[in-house]
Amino acid sequence: MNLKNLLFHKSDGVATITINRPEKLNALNQQTLMELHDVMLDVRQDQSVRVIILTGAGEKAFVAGADISEIQQLTATDAHQFASRGQALMRMIELMPKPVIAMVNGYALGGGMELALACHLRLASDNAKLGLPEIKLGILPGFGGTQRLVRLIGRTRALGMTLTGEPIGTSEALSLGLINQVTSPEALHPTTQTLAKMLAQSAPHALAGILESVILGQDMPLESGLALETSRFALCCSTQDMQEGTTAFLEKRPAQFQGN
Ligand code: COA
Repeated sequence: MNLKNLLFHKSDGVATITINRPEKLNALNQQTLMELHDVMLDVRQDQSVRVIILTGAGEKAFVAGADISEIQQLTATDAHQFASRGQALMRMIELMPKPVIAMVNGYALGGGMELALACHLRLASDNAKLGLPEIKLGILPGFGGTQRLVRLIGRTRALGMTLTGEPIGTSEALSLGLINQVTSPEALHPTTQTLAKMLAQSAPHALAGILESVILGQDMPLESGLALETSRFALCCSTQDMQEGTTAFLEKRPAQFQGN
């Protein structure tokens, strides 16, 4: 893959994708969005990848938003296509059948916050700022931010953040349930690696079943969500990993999941 704006690395079941435009605080231009799409397709299909970490290059930003210099040039038709493509990418990440961890190493604003919201877990360094400041540019979030934020933190808080555009710090983000964990900047990378390695050793069918049940189930009536959970549970019980996990417990040894 010929990547200009991303660094992409796979090791021990963990794929790490780094958005690499630090001089522009990793702003998402069209090229970067296309590359992210290609890389996400790759990791989805690669059976050796069990977990994905998404982060930004440099010490200042995860992603400071969609590229404002490109947004300024958009006609309504372009903007429709731009938002649709961005939303499709976010949905592809959200529906990834393996955990995607946002390692939020600084500003996560606008499209950057929307990218983090599409990930399954969010770990942030204590210098991070999260927000949807689009209102200050005379626009609104277009990569799913209005929809995911309200589902995550409720209407009152989502409208508070989107109508003012004011970013929040990590202690507030933690108390709102927007992020899973806060670390010092130095501890962010090792903490994320430890979590990723732990998840990479879990049973992939079980991880996929949890992700699908929680994410698709959240937007279903309870009965449909429960039916989805039942079918994923049953499917999981047909795997060798289920046999291995239960046998290992009974034999008092750690399980070795193979992904079968
Ligand atoms: N799109 C395009 N370029 C961006 C960008 C974005 N979303 N965010 C930052 N940049 C660029 C700046 O234009 C600047 O480029 P330059 O050096 O060529 O002038 C560079 O990144 C560094 O940013 P700068 O603003 O100088 O850093 P700062 O530390 O003073 O401020 C922020 C940091 C994040 C507060 C500020 O960059 C900002 O508000 N960015 C826009 C956030 C936003 O509105 N995002 C939503 C977009 S839809």
